[in-house]
Amino acid sequence: MIRIQDLSVAFRSPVLDGVSLHAPAASILALVGPGASGKSVLLKSVAGLLRPDRGEVFVNDVALGDRDEAGLAEVRKGIGMLFQNYALFDYLTVGENIAFPLRRLFDLPEEEIQERVTERLVRVSLPGFEERIPRSLSGGQKKRVGIARATVARAPILLYDDPTAGLDPVTSQKIYDLIKGEQREQQSCVMVISSDVAGILSIADRVAMLHQGRIAFDGTAEEARTSQDPLVRQFIHGLLEGPL
Ligand SMILES: Nc1ncnc2c1ncn2[C@@H]1O[C@H](COP(=O)(O)OP(=O)(O)O)[C@@H](O)[C@H]1O
Ligand SMILES: [Mg+2]
Repeated sequence: MIRIQDLSVAFRSPVLDGVSLHAPAASILALVGPGASGKSVLLKSVAGLLRPDRGEVFVNDVALGDRDEAGLAEVRKGIGMLFQNYALFDYLTVGENIAFPLRRLFDLPEEEIQERVTERLVRVSLPGFEERIPRSLSGGQKKRVGIARATVARAPILLYDDPTAGLDPVTSQKIYDLIKGEQREQQSCVMVISSDVAGILSIADRVAMLHQGRIAFDGTAEEARTSQDPLVRQFIHGLLEGPL
């Protein structure tokens, strides 16, 4: 579903340097790597929010680089995204936050929008939270609102940027269960960044590790756990000894 080909992005210095990666349909691809290794930049490139300097992203065989803004907006209808640090609008209620992508991208009757918002809030275990404001929520609740917003349009592709950052282990596990459960039901293609390697491996089908702008590892979760590559081994198991 998502094919990333020889992608390079530089700001002041190179961030991604010839990254090629494939995220198959109906599966969860975990994207891991040290801080500032370009994980968020890669996800934003897939969402068409950032134009790469070189290379191409294909979403269902559509090359994003060939698309103008209107064309990209069309592709984005098929992509749901949870941003790092929630990115909820503080001036909107929880319900309006969740409805936002529906209102912006689709022309739906108001009744259906409200039904979908209510259904999503139940799904993320926040029933009746429509009128709350994001400021009044805990970190875990904000993440769940973010997931409700990312999934409300039933997009076949979902991109989650560190959905459990800053959450306690039990809340994190609930978020993983929610992501995995939704993915199974919808058979969606999920790319998820996480700094919680052990946690994300528990739900991922495949794992890609970024290091110094390149793919250091790409394989199944089981292959990641048993890799003897010194770099991969150190990172996946959080060892002190090693090249990192
Ligand atoms: N819009 C931007 N302008 C300049 N530098 C950026 C921008 N976005 C990301 N970077 C830099 O690119 C590098 C990778 O960032 P990022 O993808 O956010 O890392 P992470 O792997 O932690 O998600 C970092 O050094 C960051 O400072
Ligand atoms: Mg990041």
